[in-house]
Amino acid sequence: MSTIVGGKFAEKVASKLNLEYYPIERREYPDSEVCPRIQMQDSFHEQAFLILRVRQEQNLNSYLIEFLLALNNLKKYVEKIHAIMPYMVYARQDAVFRKGEPFSSKILAGLLEKSGCTTFTACNTHSHRTSLKELFSIKSYNLSVIPRLAKYVKTSYHLQSPFLLGPDDESIHWVKEFARKLDIDDYEIIHKERDFETGEISTKTPEIDLDGREVIIVDDIIATGNTMVLAIKNARKMGAKFVIACTVHPVLAENALERLKTLGIKELYASNTLPSSISKVDVTPLIAQKVKEINREYE
Ligand code: R5P
Repeated sequence: MSTIVGGKFAEKVASKLNLEYYPIERREYPDSEVCPRIQMQDSFHEQAFLILRVRQEQNLNSYLIEFLLALNNLKKYVEKIHAIMPYMVYARQDAVFRKGEPFSSKILAGLLEKSGCTTFTACNTHSHRTSLKELFSIKSYNLSVIPRLAKYVKTSYHLQSPFLLGPDDESIHWVKEFARKLDIDDYEIIHKERDFETGEISTKTPEIDLDGREVIIVDDIIATGNTMVLAIKNARKMGAKFVIACTVHPVLAENALERLKTLGIKELYASNTLPSSISKVDVTPLIAQKVKEINREYE
């Protein structure tokens, strides 16, 4: 019999599947150290799912430590642990870009494996240079939220002439997947250059006429918002009738949300792999489905 362990998000998944749920008390001390306490009965379980999502306003580093501590702790009670991190932190450093930097996503995968997980699941991990399968030696699953983002826009608007725009070369995968769901072939990506020393980005506006088109910009992550801000400005320059922007992971660091809101776009929305005020697309059904599949495979 499987059990689900985690916070409120995990509880929702457990109730969808009618599975036993054990909460984690997520304590953070004033000095920022964390101490997740699994409120589990002292019996041994064959398998459990650890589903932990970053809390609103929680620092991503504190979340990571919390996740690893919970995983290590769970080993005392469970034989097989299936770890589910809706937003995989540190995944963007999926290569060594400058000499002396860490290959963070690979290191993170190693830490998770050493902490005892049997499988690892995340949503739309930013693994362009190294896939999730290459990062882990255990089984890993990369779930896509893009069809759900597409469904949201399809059911919320009567779009006459939609056009999809990707804010950088890497977004081509999301853009194509989104376009397929909307049954359209009209898409383009913007070429983005990053200065790896300063972190500054610049783009060149594609020479396309988007006059009268309803432009949807899709990306996996909005962190500082700089990439999305430039994409929105580009869409405007190309003549977009209006712009809708969406992302899987609303990291929304610094004042990203405030800056994006000043651009006068029709809507900005995201999934709830991280909690935020723009998280309109629920990923619990997607995760529940995966839990069901893993459960069947490993039981
Ligand atoms: C980069 O390749 C990613 O897909 C996102 O475009 C990027 O991480 C967004 O970061 P920011 O919001 O800081 O520009």
